[in-house]
This record gives sequence, structure tokens and C-alpha cells, in this order.
Amino acid sequence: MNDIANAEKLIQDGLEVKKNPMQNKTLGQHKVLGLIFFNTSLRTRLSTQKAAYNLGLSVVVMNIGTEGWALETEDGAIMNGQSIEHIKDAAAVVGLYCDIIAVRCFPTLISKKDDYSEKLLLQFMKYSKVPVISLESATLHPLQSLADMMTIYEHKKTSKPKVVLTWSHHIKALPQAVPNSFSEWALKTNCEFTITHPLGYELCEDFTNGANIEYNQDKALSNADFVYVKNWSAFNDYGNVLKVNDNWLLDNKKMKLTNNAKIMHCLPVRRNVELNDELADSDNSLILAQAENRIYAAQTVLKQMLETQFK
Ligand code: CP
Repeated sequence: MNDIANAEKLIQDGLEVKKNPMQNKTLGQHKVLGLIFFNTSLRTRLSTQKAAYNLGLSVVVMNIGTEGWALETEDGAIMNGQSIEHIKDAAAVVGLYCDIIAVRCFPTLISKKDDYSEKLLLQFMKYSKVPVISLESATLHPLQSLADMMTIYEHKKTSKPKVVLTWSHHIKALPQAVPNSFSEWALKTNCEFTITHPLGYELCEDFTNGANIEYNQDKALSNADFVYVKNWSAFNDYGNVLKVNDNWLLDNKKMKLTNNAKIMHCLPVRRNVELNDELADSDNSLILAQAENRIYAAQTVLKQMLETQFK
């Protein structure tokens, strides 16, 4: 988000790209985008490839987490253990093969210090010497948030809609990247933004400062125009799943408190754990619209990087 001078303008640019996706179909000719995945993906991988093809970019993809050599990330490490290649060599080599690199690297959810310093992504940026895009890093998922905001702008009926981000249940510890990023973007755009979650699930204030935090989900939902459903693990009790006795799973009854709100989720979603079928499949659901906009979010960022020759 700090790289973006004007979030509203970028959202509008994204919606323009969507109107005519093939307008710049030769812009990326003879350039290579490298997609490097330390973690699994469906939407991010396919939407970014599609975005690249729309711009004439060639794409190489590597699931480095499962197909690459085990990487060392400690400076000065004596590599007589499990790691086979240092990230400084691996990233430098990828940089020789690619004009732009996009990296997915999830958090450990063990070391807050490593995760919130974006150790892995920053090492890739440092050693590859080419521009690097985040495809969801330890703390943020910017292309998801751009797609989410484009979706809100397409569907909003008032200039300043009420947008609620609500925690929901899950069986596993999930990263905070999507709610962190969504909060950052919501606070940089024209909306009334509320976050609701159980006690203990407070997000990092670096991203949420300025949001209305409401621990009562019913109160938070009152008159909402958009409800973004997402689970995340605890930030303060880092990476842990805390016991929650109340029911935070939304249903049609809770949604009656809203202003006939649209339902959002970034996917993948555990149906009937994190989001009920009745809402995910309802006419108010925007989950597929968000997924579709992932193409145009990625395309907009790639286009602007190509147009400015990465300056
Ligand atoms: N929303 C999202 O990033 O989906 P994937 O993890 O499938 O890429």
C-alpha cells in the first residue's frame, strides 16, 4: 500500500482495464514474468498468468516450496544441514531469467519477528535485482485487496458504503495477510470501515489504525452494505487459534441486521465452517466477482510497471 500514491485511482484504473483487457496485448512482448510459489494457490496463480498473457508477457512458474532446492535464509549460515541453496543465489538466478518476479510466501505463524519483517520477500527483492510483486506475503495480500476494492466499487450504491470485516471460525491457524491488507485498503478509500472479532483476535494496529473496532458482531453488522468474512489467527498471541465460545458464523438471520449487504470472501473458503452455503450461494454473494477481478487487479499492476519501465 505504501507504494501506491492514490488507491482510488488505482481501483478506477483496474475497472478501466477490465473494460478492454486486450487493449495492451503487446506491451509485455519479449519480457518474462516469473511466478515463484513457496505455497499453494489456485486463484493467484491462474489470474496472474491470465493477466500476463493479456499483456503479451511470457510466464514461467515454479512451485519453489515443493519443487525447488531447500533454501537457506540466514546470512552467513554454515550450510551443513538440510538447506541446499542459499536464497541469495536462488533469487539472483531467478532475477537473471525474469524481468519481473512475483512471489507467494506465507508466514511461519511461529516467529512474529520474521513474519512481520517480511524476511523472505525482502530477501527475494534484495537479491533478485528485478522488480518483485507480492502474491501474498507474510503480512499482506495486496492484489487480493485491489480486486476486493474493485468489486466494492462496482457494486456500491452509495458514495461512502459501510464495509464490515468480520472474523469467522476455522479449524486451522490462518495468516493475517488478507484482513491486514483489506483493512489498509478500506482505510485508504471512501468507506465507513468496521472490524469485528472476538476478544484476542485484534489485528496489527499498523494496518488497522483508524478503523472502528466492534467486539459485538450484531452491532457491527447493523446497516452494513458489504460484509467481508474471513478467519485469521491471533496476532498478539501470535499464530494461535484461541477458544471462542460464541457463534460468529453468519447466517440469513444475522444478515437481516444489515442493509441487504453483499457478502465477500477471498476464497478458498471452508463452507459451513467459515461461511454458510446459504450466504456463499446467495444472490448477494460477491465471491466469484472478487475472484474474477483478481485478473484485472494483477493486469493493472503489471501494465503500470511495464508502462513506467519499472521506475
Ligand atoms: N484468494 C487467493 O489468494 O486464492 P489462492 O490462495 O487460491 O491463490
